[in-house]
Amino acid sequence: MDEMRVLMKYTDIPDQYTLEKYESNGGYLAIRRAIPYVQPSDLIEMVKQSGLRGRGGAGFLTGKKWGFIPNDSSTKYLVCNCDESEPGAFKDRLLIERDPHQLIEGMILSSYAIGAKHAFIYCRGEYYEGISRLRKAVQEAKEKGYLEHPLFGSDYSLTITVHPGAGAYIAGEETAQLNSLEGFRATPRLKPPFPAVQGLYGKPTIINNVETLCNVVHIVNNGVEWFQKIGIPGSTGTKIFQVSGQVQRPGCFEFPIGVSLKEVLNYAGGMLPGRTFKSCYPGGSSCSLLTSKHLDISMDFDSLAKVNSAFGTASIIVMDDSADMVKVALCLMEFYQNESCGKCTPCREGTRWVVQVLSRIDAGKGTKGDLELINQICHSMEMNSFCPLAAGAAPPIMSAIKEFREEFEAAIKRNPYWDALPEMPISYPYLKKDQLVTIRGIS
Ligand SMILES: Cc1cc2nc3c(=O)[nH]c(=O)nc-3n(C[C@H](O)[C@H](O)[C@H](O)COP(=O)(O)O)c2cc1C
Ligand code: SF4
Repeated sequence: MDEMRVLMKYTDIPDQYTLEKYESNGGYLAIRRAIPYVQPSDLIEMVKQSGLRGRGGAGFLTGKKWGFIPNDSSTKYLVCNCDESEPGAFKDRLLIERDPHQLIEGMILSSYAIGAKHAFIYCRGEYYEGISRLRKAVQEAKEKGYLEHPLFGSDYSLTITVHPGAGAYIAGEETAQLNSLEGFRATPRLKPPFPAVQGLYGKPTIINNVETLCNVVHIVNNGVEWFQKIGIPGSTGTKIFQVSGQVQRPGCFEFPIGVSLKEVLNYAGGMLPGRTFKSCYPGGSSCSLLTSKHLDISMDFDSLAKVNSAFGTASIIVMDDSADMVKVALCLMEFYQNESCGKCTPCREGTRWVVQVLSRIDAGKGTKGDLELINQICHSMEMNSFCPLAAGAAPPIMSAIKEFREEFEAAIKRNPYWDALPEMPISYPYLKKDQLVTIRGIS
């Protein structure tokens, strides 16, 4: 299958980030078409009908989320989530650096639909080029009268503020992002209330990913039916796949959702010379890994959920036969340990504990029962943590142990004192599922 470039259609054109080039390629036509001719409620309906699902990881239906916003004249906000700090994710960076006006146009349409007059772009702090391009684009759009100015004879106008983050993965979690935007430490808030009811400064707020908002431009320009026909039922539209790791041509590739894993990997040039495919994380680092038996799997939300993995942000991290799975697991858990905000114990202590156990295995000092210990701690993180960061830290490690157990066992047995070790180490008190008390309200 060939790429189908919709969002990335012009990202290879050198000056596409300028207003002049964007408009010469049909930019800002969608807002002219929609405002004031399409009623905000009809725009929400269009997005609902299109089947667009959020591209920020969870895949929640965008139109449905917009529908939760109260239909009154109170202050509302739109927040564009461009924190993009998960290992393997780099598509939003491409979109804001190469085609920032596409995002601004998507934000104008989305803000108009939900009745927000002020929108924010929360951008990963290390994206210096992206932040600078976004700021220039906002300024250009303002000077052209697309921002901070009533649009096309209507009384609707929008202000956009670009807000750089300070380098925390947890600031990508929507409620932590709201705290950060308000000037507080980026720690998650308890839900409910959900942001659509009580979000930024206590006001109804919609938080959407960069890629999600860019899609709205094309739904308005090409129509709902056009969008519905791309992809597969339940997972419509295209998706930007980010392929990294041990492939010949890592990068961003845009395909209709439902392309097979093998096709995406082939497009990324396949494996390095003399190497074979071993495994990949298909949806970023917070999901279970896939192996060669999954190469024909359809890359969509439902198919990946069925094999207990996740489509996530479609960030495919590839490992070939040279990859050491103990080191992979250790490297990932070190990331989650560093990024844990520390608010709840299972995550703060659990990530640190798993790093310690994996480190001793990697150093040839593993002990009997280490793998069971890791699984128990991961299970507790999945079930007992306050926000999805820890629930996402467990599957990549547990699935690596499940699929490549013999590799972990061989690493443990490198301990020179193996034969003298006691049968079981001190065990972490294991709680059965029905004994778990959770603060997220699920058991
Ligand atoms: C730890 C963590 C980090 C996240 N990082 C991001 C991110 O960088 N960008 C993003 O769009 N969503 C991120 N999310 C998901 C957001 O909480 C939220 O679901 C998303 O922004 C909603 O947008 P969407 O509906 O357009 O997908 C993260 C979630 C968690 C738990
Ligand atoms: S799971 Fe707990 S400690 Fe970890 S990031 Fe979320 S709130 Fe913070």
